[in-house]
Amino acid sequence: MTFRIAQISDTHLSDDKPFFVANFRQVGEALRADPPDLVLNSGDISLDGASCETDLAAARVLHDAIGLPTRYLAGNHDLGDSQDSPSHGESTIDASRRERYLRHFGEDFWFLDVPGWRLIAINAQLLGSNLDAAEEQEGFVAEAAATLGRRRLALFLHKPLFDRTAGETAITGRFVNPAPRRRLLATLGNAMPTLVACGHVHQYRQTCVDGVAHVWGTSTAFVIPDVRQPRYGLKEVGYVEHRLEADGSCESRLVRVPGVPTLNIADFPAAYGPI
Ligand SMILES: [Fe+2]
Ligand SMILES: [Fe+2]
Repeated sequence: MTFRIAQISDTHLSDDKPFFVANFRQVGEALRADPPDLVLNSGDISLDGASCETDLAAARVLHDAIGLPTRYLAGNHDLGDSQDSPSHGESTIDASRRERYLRHFGEDFWFLDVPGWRLIAINAQLLGSNLDAAEEQEGFVAEAAATLGRRRLALFLHKPLFDRTAGETAITGRFVNPAPRRRLLATLGNAMPTLVACGHVHQYRQTCVDGVAHVWGTSTAFVIPDVRQPRYGLKEVGYVEHRLEADGSCESRLVRVPGVPTLNIADFPAAYGPI
């Protein structure tokens, strides 16, 4: 028995600035033509939901129109960036931005059991924050990890845990930062994930670190030019299919949707300003 997840990510949707809606609709059509068991958006669902609630509402309507079972992860553009990220002019997560997100997309940390597996999804922007919800999330992770039983664990969050190794010390906005990373791994305890899947970087990459598969889902919308962001993997839009088998094995692959262009954010200065 196979559980198929279509991980879409970084859809950056808005009605007022609908630059990436056509790509999203085409990806949605491809998913409807070959429906997975679950569509999972791994964050940056909206263009700027951290500032404009209308972007959150528009993004939700577009997802509902696909008509498939869908779950969501919060990204920095949906409710503000982590409090421990270096300042870059972006909003920071706070209780009211988070509440707004929850109203449109439901719980920001949740788990789902499927044959042979437990999916744990968390709000990466809560990591390292002083919100009460950060503690609640930590308690949730501890409980979900402790009651895993014989299931494999797949962890989903918006930001990659790290670039190459868990011991990295750089403070960035790109990866989970060192202190909250250590704390998250400690909270998981003996429940080491088999798969860690994220978005945020707008690049597809698959690595294996200490026996754990780390899969970066690319954006359905756009990539970021090399002058602004190094190449870690493949700068190409699409989505990721994860096939989780009941026997605990899994496979992930990039799916390119024919006719969907890989847009470059540098060509859309009205989205976030000039690059
Ligand atoms: Fe993004
Ligand atoms: Fe992001």
